[in-house]
Amino acid sequence: MSDRVSATQWLAAAKHRRSVYPLKNTSAVSDDRAAEIIKEVLSFSPSSYNTQPVRISLVVGDKQKELWDLVAKEAEPVLKGAGEEVWKLMSGHFQLFGAAHGSVLFWERPQTIKEAQETHKSAAHMFAQFGEHASGMAQILVWTAFELEGVGANLQHMGAFPTVEAALRTFCGVPNDYSLKANMNYGDEIHPHPEVPSKLPSSETLNIVR
Ligand SMILES: Cc1cc2nc3c(=O)[nH]c(=O)nc-3n(C[C@H](O)[C@H](O)[C@H](O)COP(=O)(O)O)c2cc1C
Repeated sequence: MSDRVSATQWLAAAKHRRSVYPLKNTSAVSDDRAAEIIKEVLSFSPSSYNTQPVRISLVVGDKQKELWDLVAKEAEPVLKGAGEEVWKLMSGHFQLFGAAHGSVLFWERPQTIKEAQETHKSAAHMFAQFGEHASGMAQILVWTAFELEGVGANLQHMGAFPTVEAALRTFCGVPNDYSLKANMNYGDEIHPHPEVPSKLPSSETLNIVR
């Protein structure tokens, strides 16, 4: 049998990925297997001019609750400033995320972007955007692979709170210029795997020119 995957199989696999909440602190995917999947994604995921600005941290077990307790502590002043109701809602979310098994943190190494801007001067103004694209591509690959392996996952963005990013850099032990792009929580699912949410008709989103 050919080991080549058909587009139909690939699309069915990609379509399986959903935003899943809440999650358990157990995981059908072992920590070793999670690391293996991430390594595999990093070994082939695309980036502009193959510059590879994406860096990933894997946080598992007790460290997951520690991570979200830290996010809550750092975000508390900002959220309380927005009102007690906002704090109540968001601290509930943080607890929910901390109850998952693990996190995949997607960082960007800014030095790579700067170097690429020097090497490819004519496209220098594009590299900030290219970095976002490269991160998104790695994110969807890891997210999909984890869910195909049997856990649920959801994607969060804690960079909205200025001090959170710095605290998470220290927590993960990554260089202090790394920029946090996204945080994917994962763990065993509590509810049945969700359906694809409703989408706009392709008559609105697809333009075929021929
Ligand atoms: C760029 C991007 C940012 C997102 N940010 C968040 C987020 O911060 N928190 C969250 O719970 N979901 C986030 N999501 C998930 C979307 O809400 C979700 O993908 C969408 O509702 C469709 O559901 P699905 O993921 O099940 O297909 C994000 C998705 C994308 C693509």
